[in-house]
Amino acid sequence: MARRPMVAGNWKMYKTAGEGAILTQNIEPLVSGIWDDVEVVVCPPYTALKSVSTVIELDRLTMGLGAQDVHWEHEGAFTGAIAPRMLVDLRCDYVIIGHSERREYFGETDETVSKKARAVFAAGMVPIVCVGESLAVREAEETETFVRGQVRAAIEGLSAEDASRLVIAYEPVWAIGTGRTPTPEGANDVARSIRATVGATFGQPSAISMRVLYGGSVKPENAAMFFAEPDIDGALVGGAALEASSFAAIVEAAR
Ligand code: PGA
Repeated sequence: MARRPMVAGNWKMYKTAGEGAILTQNIEPLVSGIWDDVEVVVCPPYTALKSVSTVIELDRLTMGLGAQDVHWEHEGAFTGAIAPRMLVDLRCDYVIIGHSERREYFGETDETVSKKARAVFAAGMVPIVCVGESLAVREAEETETFVRGQVRAAIEGLSAEDASRLVIAYEPVWAIGTGRTPTPEGANDVARSIRATVGATFGQPSAISMRVLYGGSVKPENAAMFFAEPDIDGALVGGAALEASSFAAIVEAAR
């Protein structure tokens, strides 16, 4: 079964509400007409979700909207946190969960990733779950074991139907923002192992439909090599997503 490729831009802590609206307007003409072939998603910071959402709606843009994190509770006394239904209210389709920067700087654990994944599905959105090994894990040649463990934790408690819609981004921590990448074949080996892990829990149909993205220093120059791999269904893009032309070039490569 052919999976529709996805290219998602993770804007991290860049772009104000106004800057985000302009970037979205600049991306649109470069990727319009591609929607049937590639799902394009932008993930601005919380404070730019509304303005970007408004641009997407007013201009009837063919782009999806994602947040970069979420709390797992429906509501409550959690100062500073954002609930899934608040993101639905802004027409978010996706939520990035378990990004390595959240794991490293904000205490995200496999357990909170799992709670968030369930909450995101329960609210009617789809999580983009990030997994990936540190350099130390890679040098110890434990990448696949480590990543499989992260995946197993993240998918606990999901249904087979959830799993078939799930997006997992394989992002080696040492490749994020560094200009270094694994070989496309090496990234595909991990992507295949991620798919097999989901398949072992939920069966082949879920494993075949779910999408696995590669992330970590994806640029217009290297994107096509990753997209040529059979188990890689697109990319989660950081730095190169902050400029319309480089983001659009990566989208074009996924076509
Ligand atoms: P990068 O970031 O493309 O800048 O390496 C990717 C990510 O953190 O999702």
